[in-house]
Amino acid sequence: MTDLQSIVEEIARELEPRFGEGRVADYIPQLARVNPRQFGIAVTTVDGDMFLGGDAEVPFSIQSISKVFTLTIALGKHGESIWSRVGREPSGSAFNSIVQLERENGIPRNPFINAGAIAITDLVLAGHTPKEAIGEIVRFVRYLADEDGIVVDHEVAKSEAATGFRNHALANFMRSFGKLDHPVDHVLGVYFHQCALSMSCRQLAKAGLYLAGGGRNPTTGHRVVSHLRARRINALMLTCGHYDGSGEFAYRVGLPGKSGVGGGILAIAPGKASIAVWSPGLNDNGNSLLGSTALEMLAERTGWSIFGY
Ligand code: DON
Repeated sequence: MTDLQSIVEEIARELEPRFGEGRVADYIPQLARVNPRQFGIAVTTVDGDMFLGGDAEVPFSIQSISKVFTLTIALGKHGESIWSRVGREPSGSAFNSIVQLERENGIPRNPFINAGAIAITDLVLAGHTPKEAIGEIVRFVRYLADEDGIVVDHEVAKSEAATGFRNHALANFMRSFGKLDHPVDHVLGVYFHQCALSMSCRQLAKAGLYLAGGGRNPTTGHRVVSHLRARRINALMLTCGHYDGSGEFAYRVGLPGKSGVGGGILAIAPGKASIAVWSPGLNDNGNSLLGSTALEMLAERTGWSIFGY
């Protein structure tokens, strides 16, 4: 296990000359202000060990990684009926694409593209005010990570609310098809806040541990979801978690993963570990450039790819 500590440190050291590569997301003004020369990695195993490298304790905006947690909440609340609102197929399109929505009658391809995540947030809102729904999401993530200090960065949420023209278009489009139950402003208000959750790699790796542990967080002993549900969420992360870069990520890394435009990626080695990496510079698909490279190095050095070593 000390071996893992050296692997994590080596990865951070070897990538250092490349810190700052990629393009920081600038369509959310508050994210454009982040120092691009940062890199963090955290690996937490199902045995409860934690290995940290680089800026693993620096909080960042988890953005689309939150979609894993809201999907888990929506499944808990509504069960398999959510699949009448959103599909389970890779989109092969950008995370904020609108083209498929019209052809497919307002049913987004999967819960991780923006349209699908907005539909899931609509389901999380059921029976709640927007403020209560945000509270439920924050409490759930704190429970998963077993940390009370996790908060929403309200400046990021405000910044996205002021500039989220695409997401407004997607949500209005779905509403026009009768596929959203709540007012667009309510749904997007919750969505922007979930995306603005601020977490460090260490906290994020802990929050994802239930997906590595067959639905149960082995360090807290909490069963979050059933084995079957954990397996299925992992399957969706593998096939859809990196949008039109999902095939490439599976090819290079071979682990279920979910990226965010803040530069974070949560990856799961089922039965072994939960891994969070962060580096703000993105590749052309909007996924962390050095984060993906770090995961490729980690998968190679640990033999953790689900496709064999
Ligand atoms: O809705 C958006 O555009 C952002 N709040 C989240 C997008 C995102 O993280 C895509 N991931 N790579």
